[in-house]
Amino acid sequence: MKHLFSKALPAAVILAIASFAGAQERSITIDTSKTTIKTSPLLYGIFFEEINRAGEGGIYAEMIQNRSFEDKSRVDEVRDTPLAWGSGNAEAKLDRSQPLNKNNPTSLKVKTQAGGFVSNGGFVRDFTADKTGNLAVTGGDSYDLTFYAKTGTKTDLKITLEDASGTLASASVSIDGDAWKQYSVTLKPTKTSRESVLKIATDAPAEFSLDMVSLFPQKTWKGRKNGLRPDLMERLAAMKPAFVRFPGGCFVEGRGIENRAIWKNSIGPVEERINQYNNNWGYNCSNGLGYHEYLQMCEDLGAEPLFVINCGIGHDLRNGMYNVPMDQMGPFVQDALDAIEYANGDVTTKWGAERAKNGHPTPFNLKYMEIGNENGGAEYVERYALIHKAIKAKYPEMNLIANQVTHGFRNEIIDPHMYASPGRFFSGYFTYDGYDRTEPKIYFGEYAVTEGSGRGNLIAAVAESAFMTGLERNSDIVLMSSYAPLFIRTGWQAWNPNAIVFDQSRSYGTPSYWAQVMFANNRPDKLLAIEVDNGPSELAPVRGKIGFGTYRTQVEYKDIKVVKDGVTLCEPDLKNLDGWNRINGTWVAEDGVLKQTSGTANTLITYGDPDWSDYTLTLKARKTGGSEGFLISFGVKDREQRRWNLGGWTNSSHAVEADDFGEEHLNGEIETGRWYDIKIELKGTTIKLYLDGKLMKTQEKLQVNNLAVDAGIDEANGEVVLKFVNGNETPTTYTVNSGKASVGTVNTLTLTGSNTSAENSYETPENIAPKARSIQVDKASFQYTFPAYSVNILRWKK
Ligand code: AHR
Repeated sequence: MKHLFSKALPAAVILAIASFAGAQERSITIDTSKTTIKTSPLLYGIFFEEINRAGEGGIYAEMIQNRSFEDKSRVDEVRDTPLAWGSGNAEAKLDRSQPLNKNNPTSLKVKTQAGGFVSNGGFVRDFTADKTGNLAVTGGDSYDLTFYAKTGTKTDLKITLEDASGTLASASVSIDGDAWKQYSVTLKPTKTSRESVLKIATDAPAEFSLDMVSLFPQKTWKGRKNGLRPDLMERLAAMKPAFVRFPGGCFVEGRGIENRAIWKNSIGPVEERINQYNNNWGYNCSNGLGYHEYLQMCEDLGAEPLFVINCGIGHDLRNGMYNVPMDQMGPFVQDALDAIEYANGDVTTKWGAERAKNGHPTPFNLKYMEIGNENGGAEYVERYALIHKAIKAKYPEMNLIANQVTHGFRNEIIDPHMYASPGRFFSGYFTYDGYDRTEPKIYFGEYAVTEGSGRGNLIAAVAESAFMTGLERNSDIVLMSSYAPLFIRTGWQAWNPNAIVFDQSRSYGTPSYWAQVMFANNRPDKLLAIEVDNGPSELAPVRGKIGFGTYRTQVEYKDIKVVKDGVTLCEPDLKNLDGWNRINGTWVAEDGVLKQTSGTANTLITYGDPDWSDYTLTLKARKTGGSEGFLISFGVKDREQRRWNLGGWTNSSHAVEADDFGEEHLNGEIETGRWYDIKIELKGTTIKLYLDGKLMKTQEKLQVNNLAVDAGIDEANGEVVLKFVNGNETPTTYTVNSGKASVGTVNTLTLTGSNTSAENSYETPENIAPKARSIQVDKASFQYTFPAYSVNILRWKK
């Protein structure tokens, strides 16, 4: 079967790859003289969230956990001993009677006996004085220790860095005076250690107070004060991110609104920053890596900042909790405006002057702002519109991103997310082929294979690469994308998988990380027309039972009927659930109505015969409560289902979700209390979807063969860039024709491994990493074998 991809967009090139039945000649023909679309320079960026200790205990180079003694392990915890600190021969208690300043109310009151000490082991969970620490130090390097102290009597503090082998560095600091004073000393360990502990001891009994005990390596990324860990930042730099989204994620929302990220708490002297308990992900955040450090990081990476602002909605609104009333939204709007002024205003503006005071008089040039994170529904639309209008009135040049379609208010860019199975990612290759180019542009802000992906394995990377190829192929509409989440510190997992795994001194990228590196370093400027021939193919008809479901929504379904060729296959009387197969949810059938009453996500009940095909399903559906709409399944086999999701994505759009249909969204919502007529017609491999008698969409079953391909041109290097993803268990050989171009050297980059579940580790960090090779080709066409489960990039001079 041949497919020609020379059609110019806006309607995206549609690439259907045929199945591999039997041996056949397969070819990819690239017309190097015909370009189709320009790809977006911002296509590949990164999503940084304060999750899994990505920042605090991660890229933020501070080595002391709980330096300010404000940390807690639950949002409502009131402690009297400090988290992450130990003591020996001493009493160490939290003290709120003598704050360092109003934003930093808690300090540590220490009473030592002779030889008594307090100690900190860095980002160890449940540290006690007896436990090995994980402060990683390099022999010969310098580490700045700073702290505030006060005491009634002059006291000599003995400061050491030690591990099981003994003392690595030591210094003495004499403290005096009963007012807070800052002290500093540089520690220079004689040996390298990954397991050291900081100890502050006295020879004689003493009483003193401590606050803001900070240990910073002098070697930070780009040598910045209050800076970042070089090894981890180098991993990010290798991703060549076009933008950095920050600081989340759910971290932006908080659980309740009071725990949201507040950028104004994250600027200025670190000891005056207000801590935020990160109660989505379960740890305290000192805000040491704040808004200013973020903007600086973007500048140092050469990436555009994309700042995410809370929109007056906390994460728990998803469970029906409160949000900020519209008449109290003023400060939220102001926070957004002020964030822009901080980044861009000249030094005569209030916030521009603050930026200058913090060390950066020239503007950072923020152009992208996202309003809210994963928020939706009517509450979101009105808050989004309010903030959007206020920003545009003052800063019309800002590019604003909405979490989703805001019905009744036109937005510019929307941010869909997908955490799903490899199958959904392979079919996700087609998602934007049929996207209406007049609808908002796309920033695909979070995605990852999260099913069957281990701690980040080969199949996840391969499937994500197929999806990314689809994004790239549609990059006239898909402006930006970012894998999520970015980091995990070993021992602090709140989410799995993540792109970069690290501990106190080591790190490695998962296969997904390497796929990101490959794509971002090989984004063509323009796509070329290509023709892919995969030989003959045959698609089986859509076959299976019917099913009904809901997502955190209560519904009623009635008048359910399945007809094939004029014959009724079923018309359940809905007096009881006899003959139904309840998979999830609280279902009853009474008086001819099937009801789902729970608030559960992904409920499902099925009916009928798995061999049914070519049928028409009709029904009436009414939503009685909850945040979404209806899930109407067809072609259901065992637990595998295809479903038409109406009013999904927080009641913003309708789309078929299935491994063999591209998830093509139609913007739309479902009203509560209204009966809708729904019809799904199956004919062979075609489905027709009707709502209230109107044909909403016709879709063809896809030839999803776990393959993805595109080709483009890298203008600066004058090179053709071919991407090919093979998600199958067999290697596959293609003849690559590049028209009249003479080929010469073809440089190849391949990510593959021995099996789909292969992973990287600290011991074998590059088990699955791209391998480079060159081949010589003397003709305009050459044969190339793409290994099983592989991501491939081939480059040659045009
Ligand atoms: O990426 C992890 C989380 O997934 C993000 O915080 C959130 O936006 C999404 O639900």
